[in-house]
Amino acid sequence: MIVILDLGSHENTVLARAIRALGVYSEIYPHDITVGELKALPNVKGIIINGGPNHVIDGVAIDVDPAIYSMGIPVMAAGHDKALCEVKLDEFTDDIEGIKKAVKSFVFDTCKAEANWNMTNFVNDQIELVRRQVGDKKVLLALSGGVDSSVVAALLLKAIGNKLVCVHVNHGLMRKGESEDVVEVFKNQLKANLIYKDVTDRFLDKLAGVADPEEKRKIIGGEFIRVFEEEARKLDGIDYLAQGTIYPDIVESGTKTAKMVKSHHNVGGLPEDLQFELVEPLRQLFKDEVRACGLELGLPYEMVFRQPFPGPGLGVRCLGAITRDRLEAVREADAILREEFQLAGLDKKVWQYFTVVPDFKSVGVRDNARSFDWPVIIRAVNTVDAMTATIEPVDWPILMKITDRILKEVKNVNRVCYDMSPKPNATIEWE
Ligand code: XMP
Repeated sequence: MIVILDLGSHENTVLARAIRALGVYSEIYPHDITVGELKALPNVKGIIINGGPNHVIDGVAIDVDPAIYSMGIPVMAAGHDKALCEVKLDEFTDDIEGIKKAVKSFVFDTCKAEANWNMTNFVNDQIELVRRQVGDKKVLLALSGGVDSSVVAALLLKAIGNKLVCVHVNHGLMRKGESEDVVEVFKNQLKANLIYKDVTDRFLDKLAGVADPEEKRKIIGGEFIRVFEEEARKLDGIDYLAQGTIYPDIVESGTKTAKMVKSHHNVGGLPEDLQFELVEPLRQLFKDEVRACGLELGLPYEMVFRQPFPGPGLGVRCLGAITRDRLEAVREADAILREEFQLAGLDKKVWQYFTVVPDFKSVGVRDNARSFDWPVIIRAVNTVDAMTATIEPVDWPILMKITDRILKEVKNVNRVCYDMSPKPNATIEWE
C-alpha cells in the first residue's frame, strides 16, 4: 500500500483513487500519525506527503513528524506537494502528464509496489476476513436497498450465508417497486435470510398533520430506529451489526485538516443495551469502487447504479403534511419519470431526478369541467458532491411526453412544472 499523509489538500482522495486505479492499494492518514503507527500498517511501500491550503490550522503550521523521512520507506514530498495539490489527477491534461508520470514512477520504480489490488482480490480478502471476524455467530443488517447496504448484503451472503439476517423496513415512503425489488433480489434470487417489515401505516399515522420538514425527518429517522430495534430484540444470538460505512464516511469524519467536520451517521443511534460489534467490509472503498464490488458480486446493474435517494424517501418530496393521495401521486409520477428517463438514456447521464408534489392546488379543466388538483414538479440535477448542482437541460419532446403521461395516468394532478433552479440558491430536494 501507498500511504498518503493528509496536510489538508482537497486532492488527497483524488490521489488515493488514482493510485488504486494503477492497481496499488492506497489509504489516507492524518498528518500526525507516528512512526510507530506507520510501522504497524501492513505492507507500506511508500509515503506521499500531500500539502494543501489548510496547512495552517488555528494559526499553527502543521507538518508531519520529520522522523518519517528516515524510516527507510520512500517518501514523496517537498517540491512535489504543491504541484500535487493543485491539479486534479483524474482530469489529466497535457501539462499535468508529468505529475501523473511522477506518481506512477514513484509507486512502481521507487517503491517497487506491485499492481495487485483489484476487485476480485478485494472481495476474496473481505470474505475471508469476515469469516475470521464473526466465526459461526450471526450478523444483523438493515437492508434499505441502497447501493451500500445492498453490496454489504451480497458480500456477507457469500461469506456467511444464512448467518446473515437482513431486515428491510418499508416505511411507506419508498419509490414504486423498490421494496418489492429488495425482496425479489435478496430473498427470492439470492435466498437471503430476509425479514420484511411493512410499517407504512405506523409511519403515516405518526406523520399525520406534521408539516415541518425537519420535524418530518426526525419522526422518520427515529421511528426507523425503533422498528429496527424491535426486530433486533426479537432475534436470538445476534452478536454483530453490519454497516455500509464507506471510505468517504471515514475520511470526512476523521480528517484533522478539514474546515468543517461532517460526522457520518449510518444506522447508529441504537439504544445502549443493544450493543453489537460492527462488521464494515466496505470501509476502505470509494463509492465507485463500491459499485464495482457490487457488480463483481453479481448484483443487478440497476441496483448498483441506483441514483441517490434520501433516507426520508418520498416523505420530503410530498411537501408539507403528508397525505396518502399526494404520496400516491408523487410515487406514480416518479415511476413515470424514471421509466421515460431510462427510455431516453438519461438515467445513465443525470445524477438525480425525481418528482415533487406540493401541498397546494391549482385550477384546471378536465372533461369540460373545472378541476382543482395538485401540480407535479419535475427536478433533474447534476452534481459532483451534492454541495452545488446544475439542472439538466432535458429536451422539450421528452418533457412533453412525461407531462402527457403524468396528466393522463396520475390521479388528482392537473399541471406539470420543470424546476429550473440550480443549487444554490435552491437545494436539490424541496424540503
Ligand atoms: P439537498 O437537498 O441538501 O440534497 O441539496 C443533497 C443530497 O442529499 C440528499 N438528501 C438527503 N439524504 N437524508 C438523506 O439520506 C436526508 O434527510 C436528505 N436530505 C437530502 C438529496 O437527495 C441529495 O442527493
